[in-house]
Amino acid sequence: MAKRLKQHAIWGRGSFILAATGSAVGLGNIWKFPYITGENGGAAFVLLYLVCVALVGIPIMMAEIMIGRKGRANPVTAMSNISSDIGSTRLWSIIGWMGVLAGFFILSYYSVIAGWTLDYLVAAIEGKFGGLNGESSNELFNTLLADQSRLVQWHTAFISMTALVLMFGVTKGLENAIRFMMPTLFILLLILLGYAFTTGEIMTSARFMFSFNIEDLSWNSALLALGHAFFTLSIGMGAIMAYGAYMPSTASIGKTVITVAVLDVLVGLLTGVAIFAFVFATPGIEPSSGPGLMFVTLPVAFGSMPMGTFLGIAFFGMVVLAAWSSTMSLLEPGVAYLHERFGFHRISASLLVAGAAWLLGLGSVLSFNQWSEQELLWGMNFYSCLDFFTTNLLLPSGGLLTAIFVGWIMKRELSAHEMQQDHPRLLAVWRWVLRYVSPIAVLAIIINLFFPIATRLVAD
Ligand code: PHE
Repeated sequence: MAKRLKQHAIWGRGSFILAATGSAVGLGNIWKFPYITGENGGAAFVLLYLVCVALVGIPIMMAEIMIGRKGRANPVTAMSNISSDIGSTRLWSIIGWMGVLAGFFILSYYSVIAGWTLDYLVAAIEGKFGGLNGESSNELFNTLLADQSRLVQWHTAFISMTALVLMFGVTKGLENAIRFMMPTLFILLLILLGYAFTTGEIMTSARFMFSFNIEDLSWNSALLALGHAFFTLSIGMGAIMAYGAYMPSTASIGKTVITVAVLDVLVGLLTGVAIFAFVFATPGIEPSSGPGLMFVTLPVAFGSMPMGTFLGIAFFGMVVLAAWSSTMSLLEPGVAYLHERFGFHRISASLLVAGAAWLLGLGSVLSFNQWSEQELLWGMNFYSCLDFFTTNLLLPSGGLLTAIFVGWIMKRELSAHEMQQDHPRLLAVWRWVLRYVSPIAVLAIIINLFFPIATRLVAD
């Protein structure tokens, strides 16, 4: 029988939904989603992404929460205990390990980019967007990227904010923070959307995001859409599994996951619509401007709009909250593991994991200046490599293994027992999709990504 842990705190009603939504809604929705949609032909990409969320994202998220709640421990211990309880090999704890590692890797670069949003929040407060044009805005952004010490300073600030919350523990830290952050985030989003309506461009924006072009679909967009579905739902890396350990046993996992996924998709789509409405309302700027959409194009729009300073503060304030609630969930699996497995105090565990991620993050800081042209692999620099491998390989394979474990290794009765609150018919559909659809979709896409690379390597 596996070693059992002292029972930790369980969150109150509603906190899990807020925390999981906080984890899901982040830079992925607000920064990445609008620009990859812009670059990949709009609606066709949105559609693929929705299919991935429904067929892969939702079933895997349910599986992760079920494991976390059943194991009532960090992802490594939960996986190890459950696999030994069902008489299977403890090697399955690799799922937990990959999660802790992926969270650590993602945190290292995510915090660097989240740092930029702090810088932009301060710039908005100081009224620096007023009168910006495409060129001066570009210069503002490039000056930030070239300034290593400023980047390090913001990266340090962001990772410290994250560690600070976790140090206070599961209830006093995480739960309290999330109960304040998420409602504030939603209010800011509503203000922005309300204003986007007054620009008169909301229809142009919606048409841009929802008008369908079948020729725009390619294998590459399928991979992007799948990777993004994993990234934006925070699955395949133990964040949601770690939070699952704090979910009350009486809550329905199916309903919760559907709520979280709908909120996550809605925030992505609605911020996209608001951002493009601001962009279309400003003459001389383009929606398809790539990663610079949020940091270069949008400030120009804010700078030329009435109430632009206020909107800029609301927007970047919202992004900071979204990113912060995501980094908390990236750090939690590692902290919970050190705390529960080795008896570290949460303060030292948070400092240790955040400190190590901070150090690795310096590589990403350099990737935006000194190392930007340094190719590490296949034309990618340090930051692009980390982003590419975590999003397109680590998260999907973590998700694939979870789907196989829960769909094929765990007995149906066992998962059904943990999910008593859910309708048996829903459970049957869930299990079927988890067994046959999710793993095949993920495998097909991973193979399609790496096969061309492998053949290219052999041919060279
Ligand atoms: N879901 C977050 C976002 O969209 C990123 C994230 C990934 C957070 C994985 C936790 C785990 O920005």
